[in-house]
Amino acid sequence: MKLLTSSLLLAVTGSLIIGCNASKKTTSTTSSIPSLRDAYKKDFLIGTALNNSQIEQRDSAANSLIIHQFSAATPENIMKAQIIHPEWDRYNFDLADKLVDFGKKNDIKITAHTLIWHSQLPNFMRNIKSADSVKMYFENHITTVASRYDGKVYSWDVVNEALNEDGTLRNSIFLQKLGPDYIVEAFRLAQKAAPNTKLYYNDYNIEQPKKRAGAIEIIKKIKAAGVRIDGVGIQGHWNMNDVPLDKVEESIKEFSALGVEVMFTELDLSALPNPRGRNNSADISNTAAYNEAINPYTKEFPDSAQQKLAKGYEDLFKLFLKYKKNVSRVTFWGVDDAQSWLNDFPVRGRTNHALLFDRKLQPKQAFYSLINLKK
Ligand code: XIL
Repeated sequence: MKLLTSSLLLAVTGSLIIGCNASKKTTSTTSSIPSLRDAYKKDFLIGTALNNSQIEQRDSAANSLIIHQFSAATPENIMKAQIIHPEWDRYNFDLADKLVDFGKKNDIKITAHTLIWHSQLPNFMRNIKSADSVKMYFENHITTVASRYDGKVYSWDVVNEALNEDGTLRNSIFLQKLGPDYIVEAFRLAQKAAPNTKLYYNDYNIEQPKKRAGAIEIIKKIKAAGVRIDGVGIQGHWNMNDVPLDKVEESIKEFSALGVEVMFTELDLSALPNPRGRNNSADISNTAAYNEAINPYTKEFPDSAQQKLAKGYEDLFKLFLKYKKNVSRVTFWGVDDAQSWLNDFPVRGRTNHALLFDRKLQPKQAFYSLINLKK
């Protein structure tokens, strides 16, 4: 919980101010840099996660970069229940409304994230014990938020992270109080509230066979109930030294065979070693202790590492292009390295280099390798 609160605070106050080069961002002339959204225009949408500062357009250099590079965006935090629905009968739509305007003005498709998730829930949910109250929250929340943005956002991550690694359902408050059909019910309510919005299931590690089988079961169950699901989001929080290419390819094939869009929704490749004994997991409560050995690039990110990162992204994008008929969007979980949640997850206070733009908003080798793929 401590991590959650503090990282949320960082998200609320804007970019992370950690490690090297985090002081002032230099202004870069974005027009001289090629555009990813243009390069991949005929293939799939290129998205980014946006934090509060970016949604409020506080930094003009960052703002022009975002507009120039991305055709899709997902709010990193502000549409999560904890923020958009802080009290039982109070909603806070200010920043989400701003994001919708920003998207409209700049032809950036917004994926709202997320309606039903066990993390970053409002505080009042902690005190709710009765199944009836959870049901009432569930119905009110989905109906109120999804209907407000129907046709204004392009898509919703309706349910996020409902699965355990072995493909069984996570023992969340929703499973406990509403039973295993809650996922179908969430989609049913979302379909009613947002008939003009695409509806997705989103999770991490669902490229891994067991968890993937769980996701396939979820999708089949929703469809069997006659309820709409348009796509599945594979989050894509991986390590640059261990990109699961074969499993990603199998997943694209298996999910597409179900007749849903496949998306990579939170892509980042950590450049730092995993803490010992910890499996790769994006579960935000699964954290580890700091030590210097797992924070090697505080001063610089050497060429050899730049190359590895570039190769990781390049291999992935070659695959995405091979399946461009099935892959509708690839979204990076952040614009630049200073913003990335991986500076504080799973270990607080590290200097990660997981994205395409560095702390000065300059494109890295990985960026050019993705541009070059399209030349
Ligand atoms: C992360 C945000 O990036 C952080 O700012 C926040 O403190 C915690 O959540 N899976 C998801 C995202 O679906 O919502 C999470 O985002 C990362 C893992």
